[in-house]
Amino acid sequence: MAREPFGTAPDGQGVELITLTNANGVELRAMTYGAIIVSLKVPDRNGVLGDVVLGYDSLAGYVKSSPYFGAIVGRYGNRIAKGKFTLDGQTYTLAVNNGPNSLHGGLRGFDKVVWHADTMRTADGVGIRFHYVSKDGEEGYPGTLSVTVTYTLTDANDVQIAYEATTDKATPVNLTQHAYFNLAGSGDILGHELQINAGVITPVDSTLIPDGSLMPVQGTPFDFTTPHRIGERIGADHEQLRFGGGYDHNFVLIRSDTTLKHAAVLRDSASGRVLGVFTTEPGVQFYSGNFLDGTLSGKNGTVYQHRTGLCLETQHYPDSPNQPQFPSTILRPGETLRSQTVWKFRAE
Ligand code: BGC
Repeated sequence: MAREPFGTAPDGQGVELITLTNANGVELRAMTYGAIIVSLKVPDRNGVLGDVVLGYDSLAGYVKSSPYFGAIVGRYGNRIAKGKFTLDGQTYTLAVNNGPNSLHGGLRGFDKVVWHADTMRTADGVGIRFHYVSKDGEEGYPGTLSVTVTYTLTDANDVQIAYEATTDKATPVNLTQHAYFNLAGSGDILGHELQINAGVITPVDSTLIPDGSLMPVQGTPFDFTTPHRIGERIGADHEQLRFGGGYDHNFVLIRSDTTLKHAAVLRDSASGRVLGVFTTEPGVQFYSGNFLDGTLSGKNGTVYQHRTGLCLETQHYPDSPNQPQFPSTILRPGETLRSQTVWKFRAE
């Protein structure tokens, strides 16, 4: 484990970069700004390490313009319709920062604040415990929210992400990790194979707000219950693909309880790298990098073209605070939110 200075955030706070390395040489680097995973190097089938996440070489890139590369997203990941919700009879107004809606916690969400970080060694690996206290009223949300996010890199090449949160007033909370994966390390992700353990999605309107229904995936381009190349059906004539500009949807995970369950498998047959995603969350937002358009230059000057990375954001459903039939995202005083997601890397 190593810590080094990584520049200064716009609010004047120093930012640190922390490097975790496991017994196999797998390396995860994360910084205190946004609890952002800056790089993640995992082996291909020949044991060659490659960085499988998109991002920038320095803090400046993230501060200037980032579509949430590698960040922890909160207080509410995903969209809240019209930036409004009512809770216990009171209406709250959030910044509208994505068409008519509020996206990913507002103007200065958890991806743009400096977190406190402690490093730790556990029985099976090394880790970073990030902590952030979000003030009552921050970005329009009620209650002081105390959040801990722990990244553990194990010697089995797992990255475990554990979330904990408490509040002093009822508030919606939906935390997720927004890494953009590219298991090949370059090129687009259309050749990656994906399997998602979901029989329905929550279909959206043209502003990507769920209409409240559940759409069975069977017989549609959204059926990833068996592995499919992402590019295979992404251009199909389907209203949901038109609204998303590709895949940008919440897949409802098949689960019988709230324990850690297999959510998805992503496979790049060229490199042999395989990512298994496990989570306690009820959904996963599969976002195929549709808004990447060649305007951002990332690590080593790489231009991030259309669909050079994809996100598998384990989370609750979008707009849950306005959709009473969805699993609740409301955290109340006295309760502790606990959530876990594990990325299991292997090569075949
Ligand atoms: C959303 C996309 C959005 C992206 C970057 C994803 O979580 O689903 O619609 O463009 O984040 O902001």
